[in-house]
Amino acid sequence: MATMESLIGLVNRIQRACTVLGDHGGEGMSLWEALPTVAVVGGQSSGKSSVLESVVGRDFLPRGSGIVTRRPLKFSDFASVRKEIQDETDRITGKTKHISNIPIHLSIYSPNVVNLTLIDLPGLTKVARGSLTVLLKTIENMVRSYVEKPNCIILAISPANQDIATSDAIKLAREVDPSGERTFGVITKLDLMDKGTNALDVLEGRSYRLQHPWVGVVNRSQADINKSVDMLRARKKEQEYFETSPEYGHLAHKMGSEYLAKLLSKHLETVIRQRIPSIIALINKTIDELNAELDRIGRPIAVDSGAQLYTILEMCRAFDKVFREHLD
Ligand code: GDP
Ligand code: NA
Ligand code: MG
Repeated sequence: MATMESLIGLVNRIQRACTVLGDHGGEGMSLWEALPTVAVVGGQSSGKSSVLESVVGRDFLPRGSGIVTRRPLKFSDFASVRKEIQDETDRITGKTKHISNIPIHLSIYSPNVVNLTLIDLPGLTKVARGSLTVLLKTIENMVRSYVEKPNCIILAISPANQDIATSDAIKLAREVDPSGERTFGVITKLDLMDKGTNALDVLEGRSYRLQHPWVGVVNRSQADINKSVDMLRARKKEQEYFETSPEYGHLAHKMGSEYLAKLLSKHLETVIRQRIPSIIALINKTIDELNAELDRIGRPIAVDSGAQLYTILEMCRAFDKVFREHLD
């Protein structure tokens, strides 16, 4: 039986190969699209970046900027990831704080958590006037283009200090995933609710039913961030919050970032296991096509493109072998 880490490691290697395969036609893309991704959606400042970081267990996203960018990133030092994103965002937007219509697309390699492909989508906004309307429509369409894909696992973020019935995240999730099978509902900012109110109706599934359980989280506040409260300390504080809460104490074992990360990992494992046979089929098909192509152009091949085909073929064979070993 393959471990979660080895499974996701394989998926990441295939994703890297798909980038190369993509250059050679459509097959790479369908292989890519067969693999699960995780997208975080929600309104501006709903806590998307905070949730994404706490699920991964590391600080790396610029928070509060509402600006996104895309850049292939592969750093082990998360502080430099954060700086890279900030610099790239400034470069693209010219420090105007306008939202770029390209999402951050990160492959995370971490020894502590499973490697995930995560997409931090820009905040959805309802209020818009004039030229901004076009921009916001563009953002909404881009977010939708990600989350409507059946392989996209949606982390739908709704802040507890706003009405869940009007949550942009839930509205979108309901639209693209009506059965709720790939949506994880996350309630942030439980600590910021008005005194005397609580989110139990949502957390216990009475307000809006999803197939996966709702998870409440308490992320770092702006004050925590200013004081550089680190992830470990933040998670400890969060756990204490739930354990000592008069409202949520009975749910403490099913609340918080760590629990959310566990739920998500478990779901990813199931999805990846289901996908392995079709990934193998796609790899075999690609190998056949590449072999046919090599026969057609004749071997040995001196030109660069031919050499590249050989490399891809070798990669596909290696993946196939590893997958077979994992299936046995
Ligand atoms: P995003 O715009 O959706 O990515 O939201 P961010 O993660 O950047 O968070 C926006 C602001 O809300 C930041 O100042 C966070 O510190 C704060 N914030 C996020 N989640 C919580 C929470 O659960 N509790 C508190 N008190 N503040 C939070
Ligand atoms: Na929202
Ligand atoms: Mg953000």
